[in-house]
Amino acid sequence: MHYELTDQQSYTQVHLKYPRNYLNYRTTHLILVNTVSSESKPRFIPPQVRERLKIIEEKMKLVKHRLVIMSGKGGVGKSFIASNLAVALASLNLKVGLMDVDFHGPSAPKMLGLKGRKLIVTTEGIEPAVGPLGVKVMSLDFLLPSSDTPVVWRGPLKTTAIMQFVSDVNWGELDFLVIDMPPGTGDEALTVAQYLPKVDGALFVTIPSEISIEVVGRSIAFAKQVGIRPIGVIENMSGFYCPKCKTLYKLLGKGTGKEIAEKYNIEFLGEIPLDPRIAEANDSGTPITLAYPESEVSKRIINISKRVHEMIKSTTEQV
Ligand SMILES: Nc1ncnc2c1ncn2[C@@H]1O[C@H](COP(=O)(O)OP(=O)(O)OP(=O)(O)O)[C@@H](O)[C@H]1O
Ligand SMILES: [Mg+2]
Repeated sequence: MHYELTDQQSYTQVHLKYPRNYLNYRTTHLILVNTVSSESKPRFIPPQVRERLKIIEEKMKLVKHRLVIMSGKGGVGKSFIASNLAVALASLNLKVGLMDVDFHGPSAPKMLGLKGRKLIVTTEGIEPAVGPLGVKVMSLDFLLPSSDTPVVWRGPLKTTAIMQFVSDVNWGELDFLVIDMPPGTGDEALTVAQYLPKVDGALFVTIPSEISIEVVGRSIAFAKQVGIRPIGVIENMSGFYCPKCKTLYKLLGKGTGKEIAEKYNIEFLGEIPLDPRIAEANDSGTPITLAYPESEVSKRIINISKRVHEMIKSTTEQV
């Protein structure tokens, strides 16, 4: 099954077509484009979008917490952290889903050993793929005809696809829906902020470099602006510990995660070093938390997942 674009001439009306007997969804995107602003909710919502939002709201009533993994920067390990955090949360006996909204570079399915998986569509909706420890996964990767198919989408299509990822997927009851974001502060992040019921928190992934302070800072400011609470900073790729000579090499420069966390008054959740086993695990589709549970990296990820669970539980219970 794959998305079929049938009306590319018209920017205002684009069909996203599922198999014939299932969805045949049409929406007026230009209105959406006009309503997208940095406000947390658009002022005018067209009736057909309102209908879909109702379904989203109903579906999300079964999902206790929504957590986004963001960064202003690309290639810093967002998908690696999102996938492993999802598995780590599942290892705490929580029901977890992972929604990959990185349409131009979906990578979570590969990291969870789900590459090439085809989705089952029933009259009830789309069954998400099921990964390690029962983590339910939805990604555009499952809908593309081949792995080298480029996704050439403008913002409105992404908005519609994200809404469908929520409204048409049978997520069922979940404790956490982890959302793996693309880099930056574009349409995907805005859609998640505007059209999903309250997101409980955002984790920001950074790497040791002066440049990342500014770039990640921008995405923290963006999250605040659209009403998503920044809850923590994780510094990934922070140094390489040579097992032979027992020396820590700061390959990418000095750490900046702590500095970012202090500057924006959010919690620093820790450092994850460069480790060839991470790359190997990501490529082989077995998350490092399962492939090397005794490794320092896995221990840190499990600790981060415990802390995140604690933080989100305590703040949502206060509300
Ligand atoms: N700590 C680490 N040690 C070694 N390799 C790592 C580490 N973190 C991530 N990687 C590798 O770096 C690459 C980029 O990671 P990942 O795809 O998770 O980044 P991303 O931020 O999601 O990228 P994008 O912005 O494209 O979505 C992957 O090949 C991953 O296996
Ligand atoms: Mg990614």
